[in-house]
Amino acid sequence: MSELKQSAAWQALLQHYDDIKDVHMRDMFGEDQGRFDKYSLQLNNILYDYSKNRINDKTVELLLQLANEAELPGWIEKLFSGEHINHTENRAVLHTALRDKSNKPIIVDGVDVLPEIMQERVNVKQLAEKIRTRQWRGATNQAITDIVNIGIGGSHLGPLMVTEALKSHSLHDLNIHFVSNIDENHINDTLEYLNPETTLFIIASKTFTTQDTMVNAETARQWYLKKLGSDEHISKHFAAVTSNVKLAKEFGIAEDNIFKMWDWVGGRYSLWSSIGLSIVIAIGSEQFDELLEGAYEVDQHFRTAPLQENIPVMMALLGIWYNNFFDAQSMAVLPYDQHLHRFPAYLQQADMESNGKYVDRNGDEVDYTTGPVLFGEIGIAGQHAFFQLLHQGTKLVPSDILAPVWSFRCIARHHRALMSNVFAQTEAMMRGKTAEEARAELQAEGLDAQAIEQLLPYKVFPGNRPTSTILFDTLDAKTLGSIIALYEHKIFVQGVIWNINSFDQWGVELGKQLAKSILHELDDTDEVATHDSSTNGLINHYKKRRPKKNS
Ligand code: F6P
Repeated sequence: MSELKQSAAWQALLQHYDDIKDVHMRDMFGEDQGRFDKYSLQLNNILYDYSKNRINDKTVELLLQLANEAELPGWIEKLFSGEHINHTENRAVLHTALRDKSNKPIIVDGVDVLPEIMQERVNVKQLAEKIRTRQWRGATNQAITDIVNIGIGGSHLGPLMVTEALKSHSLHDLNIHFVSNIDENHINDTLEYLNPETTLFIIASKTFTTQDTMVNAETARQWYLKKLGSDEHISKHFAAVTSNVKLAKEFGIAEDNIFKMWDWVGGRYSLWSSIGLSIVIAIGSEQFDELLEGAYEVDQHFRTAPLQENIPVMMALLGIWYNNFFDAQSMAVLPYDQHLHRFPAYLQQADMESNGKYVDRNGDEVDYTTGPVLFGEIGIAGQHAFFQLLHQGTKLVPSDILAPVWSFRCIARHHRALMSNVFAQTEAMMRGKTAEEARAELQAEGLDAQAIEQLLPYKVFPGNRPTSTILFDTLDAKTLGSIIALYEHKIFVQGVIWNINSFDQWGVELGKQLAKSILHELDDTDEVATHDSSTNGLINHYKKRRPKKNS
């Protein structure tokens, strides 16, 4: 048995789970009027209410013991001080350095990385401001109107999510497009209405080797050359963000247009780096600084607050409680702010690429479950789609609900209706509806006794479904920075407790490797027989039926 499962806290939690598993939150709230005060935390304008969870004081005490037994405080210091905690890639993990405001040196392998971070930030801001103020001119001396960020995964999801979230704060005469899919439809649909004379491409790839991004980048270059005839002024239309400057130069990007990132920034933690170039172009450098400031304030909170008052720590511990003791396999993230519509997709990579691991830090297979299946959608849309399962399904799906106290335009009629749904859903999931309540309602509707008894089972809601609510004043850049950082640290804490490395991603390699070799097999019309019968069958069906011009 793993050390984690043998630990005193784990064993005590198992016991405690037996005591609490049949207790209903409705009764917990009935017995303790102070539950909200006890189980909610506030950081600046962000309120984190975790009182609608299946916990009591004992649960919190034992979960904190679990965190201490995993030496969480020591791990937090390792994270911030640049230790090589990404041991399988022998790298430090320092996305926090990118938003550091303390001006104290941050040493990575004996070198202070702060001056380089600052320089790169200045470079990014300079390019962004030139574009925003229309000083940056293209090949035919026209201002740039369209930016196309070509990247995937961490070089795509973060910038896309943030530019969508902060679109109320963006310049309206600049369009930012994101292309990630190697499916030609994505880039072609994007380029169809663009003018190469007023378009700037950002090739965003930490490695500059990712197939999807490189194929799209080449298509963009060919489109540019075809339309403008020569590559004489290509430097006015292509920039890159990468840690592989050599490959970016070989691709033909002018050195001045290459923005650096470092191997100690993980792709899914990189929106704070030059990967955020498209964000800075959209919202401006002052707003970007606010984003960094919001994250920095959470970093300080995470590093210094006692574990029980530490929001990301409590978020993580609750996840562990459901994942490992209630056997909940998934979790939902449900923003009630339209501008956060890409947040669940962003978090999916952040969480599942970080903690979807079955081997621990010692190289041993774990004997407990790790990262959950994370899914989500705008809450209101989810209500009319999959909330049925959340309320009456057979699976326990702990959910995070995020909502703003006011929105940018704040039309009262809309916002009150929106918020009534937020409060109603969390209450419904917690309380449910008993048979007595359902019966009384049906009687009030005038149904006869037989009809009531037939319908009754369908009208009962078991409740006791956990939700945690994050209420923030409004979705400005600083608040968004804070929310993202809360989740980043939550993921880290869970990785520490599960004793896994949250910062590598070897699981994405096998598919890439196979795709490389299969790509060659698609070059001709010969039947393949090198795989299993299913893969052979699929490849051969494709080769037989594809149009001749694709053969
Ligand atoms: O395939 C997964 C991945 O390596 C992610 O971790 C990363 O964010 C993404 O691909 C893009 O990588 P790059 O920025 O190097 O193109």
